[in-house]
Amino acid sequence: MIEVQDLTRRYGDTVVVDGVSLSLPERAFVSVIGANGAGKSTFLSMVSRLLPMSAGRAVVAGLDVAATPGDVLARRLGILRQEHGVTARVTIRDLVAFGRYPHSGGRLTAADRAHVADALAFLDLEPLADRFLDEVSGGQRQRACIAMVLAQDTDCILLDEPLNNLDMRHAAAMMGLLRRAVDERGRTVVAVLHDINFASCYSDQIVAMRDGKVVAIGPPDRIVTSEILREVYGIDVEVVLIKGYRTAFFYR
Ligand SMILES: Nc1ncnc2c1ncn2[C@@H]1O[C@H](COP(=O)(O)OP(=O)(O)OP(=O)(O)O)[C@@H](O)[C@H]1O
Ligand SMILES: [Mg+2]
Repeated sequence: MIEVQDLTRRYGDTVVVDGVSLSLPERAFVSVIGANGAGKSTFLSMVSRLLPMSAGRAVVAGLDVAATPGDVLARRLGILRQEHGVTARVTIRDLVAFGRYPHSGGRLTAADRAHVADALAFLDLEPLADRFLDEVSGGQRQRACIAMVLAQDTDCILLDEPLNNLDMRHAAAMMGLLRRAVDERGRTVVAVLHDINFASCYSDQIVAMRDGKVVAIGPPDRIVTSEILREVYGIDVEVVLIKGYRTAFFYR
């Protein structure tokens, strides 16, 4: 579904994504972890064509990203950016309808409206649908932005820190929902997460990045270990098994 070879991004002499090669499976929940500045957002931005690559190649759903027009790619891949800056005076329903743009070109059909209604329901946003974005909380706005990406109805969904601004209940609900998008709707979800324990419980694969490189990739059992977390974050973290999930703790 997503194949990347030697993907590289440089700013001047500084390499921020450094020759990343990987292959992510279809119908999987993939988490990307790594310290601030590791290159996670830059990686996602190149895969989704928001940022030009300095070198390398990315192929999404059989489409060579660099050679595919934006509107064609947008029917196969949706992305939520880390700093989406969505605060305009539009209602949640209208924002979610923007997600249909690659399909509708701005003129919504009955099918487009059904996708919007479905995304609003999937994210429990129906009671808020007619509120303006500047009249809801940060977490509610975050959910609306994710609904917009889901309404785009793409095989592949990239989410840069989807849990931003979400409380524990809504974060857990969001992870459950993304898991359902994979299991029930056959999507491929790639999410940048800072919460290792959510990544551990919900992911099929975890990609661990440091200094622009992938230092480890594999199922949570292999990645959520004290050794790898020390390599990724440079701190000592204890990992214990709770209810079958590897769970990381940091002690003062
Ligand atoms: N426009 C730019 N010019 C120069 N350097 C940049 C630019 N954008 C990002 N960088 C640098 O690239 C590196 C990777 O940034 P990136 O945003 O990909 O990190 P990240 O892993 O997403 O971090 P975070 O967890 O803080 O979101 C950082 O060191 C950052 O300072
Ligand atoms: Mg980032």
